[in-house]
Amino acid sequence: MSATIGTDVGYAVEVIRSGGLVAIPTETVYGLGADASNESAVRRIFVAKGRPVDHPVIVHLADGAQLSSWSRHPSAAALLLAETCWPGPLTIIVPRADTVLDVVTGGRDTVGLRVPAHPLTAELLARFGGGIAAPSANRFGRISPTNAAHVADDLGAAVDYILDGGQAAIGVESTIVDCTGDVPQILRHGGVTDDELATMLDGPLERSPSGPSRAPGMLASHYAPRAPVELYESGDEAFWRAKELQDVGIGVAVIDYGSNLGAYARQLYSDLRAADGSGAGTIIAVLPPAAGLGHAIRDRLTKAAAPRPPT
Ligand code: TXA
Ligand code: MG
Repeated sequence: MSATIGTDVGYAVEVIRSGGLVAIPTETVYGLGADASNESAVRRIFVAKGRPVDHPVIVHLADGAQLSSWSRHPSAAALLLAETCWPGPLTIIVPRADTVLDVVTGGRDTVGLRVPAHPLTAELLARFGGGIAAPSANRFGRISPTNAAHVADDLGAAVDYILDGGQAAIGVESTIVDCTGDVPQILRHGGVTDDELATMLDGPLERSPSGPSRAPGMLASHYAPRAPVELYESGDEAFWRAKELQDVGIGVAVIDYGSNLGAYARQLYSDLRAADGSGAGTIIAVLPPAAGLGHAIRDRLTKAAAPRPPT
């Protein structure tokens, strides 16, 4: 069975109020949303995704003024980043308010908060009035959706309504910054770049330049298409490898946007899905430069290419 897709924000509000699941468009990727104050509704997210229950989910808010109802004594850095980046592709981790449910935080004493920048979801959040808990709207470990059709393909009838906001403008997930310690720390590269964060903050910032993202639930293998993924630093290497595989009869899909990082981020997840859909035997990607949005793209490609446990 397939899910209902549409642009009826009023209906989406009703579904959220009655404890249902709505896929919500954001500027990064689509989220699988539920009322963050309704424990059984949030539990349904985990069932629909097939996600381990101890993984925390981000709470999406209508505006920064709601930060104080969801967190306890946010740091100056948290307030500054929220003020500067929201609405936008930044998730901040702050100490949680006592009222935030364990099912949302995975039992941690912190919570991830974000005000997304998409007009339909902004309207939904404003009319609903509360927080919407939402991980990316894909089955656990698979590719995040950047349009409504991706969500329908992946989750089908497990989602009550898909709010169709078109193609996600950025295409990779939000940057996650842990603001609970003395020095803000980047846990996941994403739509806001390291350099942008460093410029916004008055003080130091702990970056994680090459290592894997450190948010809980971010496994080495993630964002995984079905076909194996090979990564190359140069277009030449990728070209010769593709030729070698094609010569022995293996279908190859090549992903390469040169230094056009915006296009790379926007297209990446669609391209990975399309490669799978085309039945390619191997996906070859040319890594973008390790600068700006390139960090997030390289991180996701590395996870897509990581060896996976047998399923
Ligand atoms: O762009 C995005 O961030 C999208 C859209 C829908 O907002 N959401 C998203 O959610 O990517 P998800 O669940 O796929 O990834 C969120 C990550 C997870 O790795 C989770 O562990 C981490 O954020 N996270 C959430 N709350 C946290 C917390 N309190 N402490 C540390 N990490 C947290
Ligand atoms: Mg995800």
